[in-house]
Amino acid sequence: METLELNKKEHDELRQGEAFAPFAIDENAFEKKFYIESYGCAMNFSDSEIVASILQDQGFGATKKFEEADLVLVNTCSIREKAEQTVRKRLTEFKKAKQAKPGMLVGILGCMAERLKGKLLEEEKLVDIVVGPDAYRTLPALIKDADTGQKGVNVLLSRDETYSDISPVRLNSNGVTAFVSIMRGCNNMCSFCVVPFTRGRERSRDAFSIVKECEELFANGYREVTLLGQNVDSYHWVDEQKDIIVTFAKLLEMVAIISPMLRVRFSTSHPKDITDEVLYTIAKYENICKYIHLPVQSGSTRMLQLMNRTYTREWYISKVDRIKEIIPGCGISSDVIAGFCTETDDDHKDTLSIMEYSQYDMSYMYFYSERPGTLAARRFEDDVPLEVKKKRLDEIVKLQNKMSFQSNISDIGKTFKVLIEGNSKKSESDWAGRNSQNKVIVFSKGSHNFNKGDYAIVRVNSATGATLIGEIIPN
Ligand code: SAM
Ligand code: SF4
Ligand code: F3S
Repeated sequence: METLELNKKEHDELRQGEAFAPFAIDENAFEKKFYIESYGCAMNFSDSEIVASILQDQGFGATKKFEEADLVLVNTCSIREKAEQTVRKRLTEFKKAKQAKPGMLVGILGCMAERLKGKLLEEEKLVDIVVGPDAYRTLPALIKDADTGQKGVNVLLSRDETYSDISPVRLNSNGVTAFVSIMRGCNNMCSFCVVPFTRGRERSRDAFSIVKECEELFANGYREVTLLGQNVDSYHWVDEQKDIIVTFAKLLEMVAIISPMLRVRFSTSHPKDITDEVLYTIAKYENICKYIHLPVQSGSTRMLQLMNRTYTREWYISKVDRIKEIIPGCGISSDVIAGFCTETDDDHKDTLSIMEYSQYDMSYMYFYSERPGTLAARRFEDDVPLEVKKKRLDEIVKLQNKMSFQSNISDIGKTFKVLIEGNSKKSESDWAGRNSQNKVIVFSKGSHNFNKGDYAIVRVNSATGATLIGEIIPN
């Protein structure tokens, strides 16, 4: 497995690389059926909900069985080689299903579609439709083309598409938490990363459409929104007619004041861009969760320079200090890459030491996977042997697991406000939810009259590396 292991199984991003079957709206209410499977980051899962909305308007209903679908879609990720290999395997399976059901169309969406463009259609004949992340509005026309045997390809990137007017159809929803996309693309050029090439230029979505979507979610019973972007701190939306500029701090506030009962989360923050204004806004509103995902990537300034992250080890440490100063008790998590080009043992030790300094509650940890076309692929040699990458990643994972366990143990005896997301995976007599710091807490339902979407005050009695276990404190 490429990502050796992550220590917090319940976290949303763990859906990376996993199939994601759609929820069942009334399957019989529609003439035609589509099946969608999503890979990659939360933005991709959010995009699948936009695609579902576009398809529903065309008379397609969702099905969980791909064998029954008229249209099978795979929303793909290119971030690491392994992610692409998984999709290729899946496409071969769908090709077989297509042979058994003449007329079935198979389409590839998302980052891999953008990166490989028509290749999977023309050379490998694995799919009928190829649509990049900014071209989903053209999906109905592409389906028609493919139905008549023409090539359905659109991988044009846009400078202004944000799908702001499309109301997403929530897929696999627990009815309590939802992703809301606030921007698209990325203007950073981290040298290892394929995203700027697959998602295009950064653009921010109309702030009022974001607030409207969050208000509607709240009115429909949702109690938590996660505002999504590759670099949320550079959110910047200008309403020229009204002469209004909305920064990320302002947007957070606009969403937070919808209701104190609506929790607000966000992902991802870039250490170079997160401002004191954002930190003070988080501190000011109880319902803005005290949790920041602040990917470090490496603890070595030399590596950070080669990665083009535009901050140093010292800058990153000062941001961690600032978070802890302004938001005491704030949860912090990270992304870490092991074995980037020219990384030495000393660079690796710097990564371990910055992790210890930051005391992350959780991290996503990977070894470097060279991506064609990126700055690193063009400029540097991928010269750290695979076994060294794996060994370093193993050390990083072990350290993180130890820190996560310590962090959870230190919560024993504390009480938290928990948003109940549903039954625990192991038992229907237990609830599972999260505290503000994004830690999963499982507790017995007992005789208390709580429902999904309610807040409960829970005292932590014990902990594993991944979960806190507690009991309800009656009001
Ligand atoms: N925009 C976010 C940021 O800047 O931190 C996250 C972007 S990416 C979707 C998620 C993570 O994948 C990155 O933070 C990085 O740790 C990892 N990643 C990206 N490219 C990679 C590569 N070529 N090899 C290994 N890991 C990679
Ligand atoms: Fe990739 Fe860097 Fe943009 Fe994140 S900020 S998506 S790592 S280029
Ligand atoms: Fe993957 Fe694209 Fe997200 S490459 S991580 S799906 S932006």
